[in-house]
Amino acid sequence: MTALYPPEPFRIKVVEPIQLIPPEARREALRAVGYNVFTLKAEDIFIDLLTDSGTGAMSQHQWAAIMEGDESYAGARSFFRLKEAVDDIFGFKHFVPTHQGRAAENILSAVLVKPGNYIPSNMHFDTTDANIRARGGRPTNLVIEEAFNPQSQHPFKGNMDIAKLRAFIERTGVANIPLGMITVTNNAGGGQPISMENIRAVAETYHSFGIPFYIDAARYAENCYFIKLREPGYEHKAPIEIAREMFSYADGFCMSAKKDAIVNIGGLLATNNDEVAQAIRNELILREGFPTYGGLAGRDLDAMATGLYEGLDESYLAYRLGQTSYLAAKLKEYGIPIIEPPGGHAIYMDAGRMLPHIPHAELPGIALATELYLTGGIRASEIGTVMFAYPDPDSGEMIYPQLELVRLALPRRTYTQSHMDYIARVVADIAQRASTLKGYKFTYAPKLLRHFTAKFEPL
Ligand SMILES: Cc1ncc(COP(=O)(O)O)c(C=O)c1O
Repeated sequence: MTALYPPEPFRIKVVEPIQLIPPEARREALRAVGYNVFTLKAEDIFIDLLTDSGTGAMSQHQWAAIMEGDESYAGARSFFRLKEAVDDIFGFKHFVPTHQGRAAENILSAVLVKPGNYIPSNMHFDTTDANIRARGGRPTNLVIEEAFNPQSQHPFKGNMDIAKLRAFIERTGVANIPLGMITVTNNAGGGQPISMENIRAVAETYHSFGIPFYIDAARYAENCYFIKLREPGYEHKAPIEIAREMFSYADGFCMSAKKDAIVNIGGLLATNNDEVAQAIRNELILREGFPTYGGLAGRDLDAMATGLYEGLDESYLAYRLGQTSYLAAKLKEYGIPIIEPPGGHAIYMDAGRMLPHIPHAELPGIALATELYLTGGIRASEIGTVMFAYPDPDSGEMIYPQLELVRLALPRRTYTQSHMDYIARVVADIAQRASTLKGYKFTYAPKLLRHFTAKFEPL
């Protein structure tokens, strides 16, 4: 018998207690941090779905690898173990470790992006977007239209619109596009996967104009498993074979290893270009550390080397995607609007549709995220106006994102099915009184990456 939702392919050996603090304590904690759940104390949270980044549970093999870490400053054994895994899976000529994904993005942007440049992608995630802007560049999102229709059942809603991409390159001029990207899976657009066919077409399009192609690979393994499940011709391939094909089309990649390499800290940056690799190493030494450790301890490199393979393991991926679809199915049973079909690492609730009486400017995502905490001690992140609305650099007019989302990100191998049931019940409770929820306004907002430190006030 095949279980619809495969049980966890592991059992629990170490536990970390969590507790639901009383409602008045939650209200006071939230008020004290200016209603930004990012700045709450983690121990005041019952179920933490803020992110799946660096919050997963490492395996016994990873903990064992940690003990084997070689802390030599240069040329440590741990680096060569990581190199073996990276070469085996990704197959690029050069790679460096970084302390996390955004460090890789920073270095890539420092090396390739000049003021006024445009960097197309399906959708850039927040840190990639901000790192490009910080160099004076303009991140440009060219995902297919289906991505903006939460009910569309398109199997690969993270795909890039090839016609739009071609027209964009012709309009903008190759000289203004130092690299092109794609994010797998598309975190900013619901964790939706990208088909191999689309990755191939994106690569061909960039290459036909002589533009190098880099993948933001944070959730590449989940993406590979979606390809296996949904794309004809891949059903009999192992995720690692699919990964090898995917990366064979690219000239490089940057990656937060805190997702699909299931480590608490780490990142990767790779390229096939010798000159770019040299510039990357120089930047790395300036900002992160020597090229064989890149801002990490030797033990972190070892945990990553082991985790890269665990993240590609098929029974793990079946459980992982199964847990996400289990929560999605529960929420749908309760009539909660979510982005469908569910992505790999998170459920994206459509706060815009849940709270139609709250306009963009009154931050519906914050209204829902704060209520999740107040009602059930659950922490989630807004992916809407706070994260992605920016004034247009030419007109100054505020450009709002098309969707106001609240993301329930599932840390890897961390919460159980009864946690999922609890989360769904809390959301259902909120949905019943959705029309009574009020909007919020900013009382403080930094210029970039506002969601991390902004403060709000209920209206
Ligand atoms: C698609 C994507 N790219 C890059 C990053 C940045 O990675 P890090 O948090 O390791 O800096 C993230 C993090 O959430 C991400 O989801």
